[in-house]
Amino acid sequence: MKKIMSLLVVIALMAAFIVGCAPANTPEKTEAPKAEEKTEAPKAEEKADEKAEETKAEEKADESKAEEKADEPKAEEKADGGEVANKDKPLVWYNRQPSNSSTGELDMEALNFNDKTYYVGFDANQGAELQGQMVVDYIMAHADEIDRNGDGTIGYVLAIGDIGHNDSIARTRGARKALGTGVEKDGAIDSTPAGTNVDGKATVVKDGEIKAGDKTFVVRELASQEMKNAAGATWDAATAGNAISTWASTFGDQIDIVVSNNDGMGMAMFNGWSKENKVPTFGYDANSDAVAAIADGFGGTISQHADVQAYLTLRVLRNLLDNVDVNTGISIKDDAGNVLTDTDYKYVEAERSYYALNLAVTSENYKDFLDSTVPYKPVANQLDEKAHPMKNVWLNIYNSADNFLGSTYQPLLQNYDKLLNLKVEYIGGDGQTESNITNRLGNPSQYDAFAINMVKTDNAASYMEILKK
Ligand code: BGC
Repeated sequence: MKKIMSLLVVIALMAAFIVGCAPANTPEKTEAPKAEEKTEAPKAEEKADEKAEETKAEEKADESKAEEKADEPKAEEKADGGEVANKDKPLVWYNRQPSNSSTGELDMEALNFNDKTYYVGFDANQGAELQGQMVVDYIMAHADEIDRNGDGTIGYVLAIGDIGHNDSIARTRGARKALGTGVEKDGAIDSTPAGTNVDGKATVVKDGEIKAGDKTFVVRELASQEMKNAAGATWDAATAGNAISTWASTFGDQIDIVVSNNDGMGMAMFNGWSKENKVPTFGYDANSDAVAAIADGFGGTISQHADVQAYLTLRVLRNLLDNVDVNTGISIKDDAGNVLTDTDYKYVEAERSYYALNLAVTSENYKDFLDSTVPYKPVANQLDEKAHPMKNVWLNIYNSADNFLGSTYQPLLQNYDKLLNLKVEYIGGDGQTESNITNRLGNPSQYDAFAINMVKTDNAASYMEILKK
């Protein structure tokens, strides 16, 4: 019996053990939701607490905002652009006018991006005519020695900057028109590069004729090409330097004149060949080195009044930021005495564009143009910082290697930014890809205004998209 009893006890104990083990899994399951409940409950409480804290924090923020509002807005706030959305901030396109690079038609959507959008450039056609006239005047004045090989033909070569840039197109047309070598196409002079035309058979140009003194010369465009390097950069001075070597070895003393769409390329050709061979070379931009070279035989250049353009680029932004008449310090004298006249620029309302006027720079007047980076006297007066507080401007240059923008325009901007109390961030592109620049417009909210110089005149949309976000 004892045995039976102890057996029963053992069985009972085993049963108890099994029961004790088995339920051990179940409670976990039931306990688990409990645990969740427990954590949920405090969460709700926490949330309530957080909310209370948030409200407090918000209240505090509101208080300090109100305090700030009472004061002059702080610098950082301005850097944030205050409450102004990027799409409503002042915007100036400059040097490369938003337009279709094949037809030249203006991109009015870009020019009207908002009611604070303008273009600043110069009168391309007036300048192009001046350049053409300057070459003709030179021929007239040097009729006796201009024809180097005495064959009765004045041969010239032409360096083209960018076949899709309206300034470049205008200059090619201007030279061809003045020299009588232009061919009409769709109501305008064809600006297509001729390649080589030593035999006079090209279809995009024809032989012209000029009477100088008692002589009548045939004028022939021996060669012309767009100076674009392998990577795609246009207006490329090094390419022009190489081209003149090739042309000189092919045409030799048939070349009587070298014409260039700008000074950067013109100087590369002058230094590489024409200076030594005493062949008059004509450029455009009145960069300091080209003006100085007139003393050594450089034929002449055109000032596109960069001192007026750089001023207008920043002045228009300044006025829009100050919320005053956009023509303050332009056609209307400002409180510091700055004002321009209509011999300096013209404004075309339908194109939302300010155009500086050009001046010819020749052996007669070059001494007045030796430093191209000096602010223009009538608009070189410092603005008062109290009335015109410091603002932040984002500004880019399509190609940091561009001679005109780098050696003339940017130094001028850097003089005017101080006079106008603008803190300008200068961004230099590679002249080939728009994204190289747009990538560096990552945080437009940091700026109060923008000045844009596109790589390609068709690309305004890529900037507008960023500013619209
Ligand atoms: C200038 C050129 C320059 C180009 C750049 C033109 O207006 O005359 O020298 O390379 O602009 O866009």
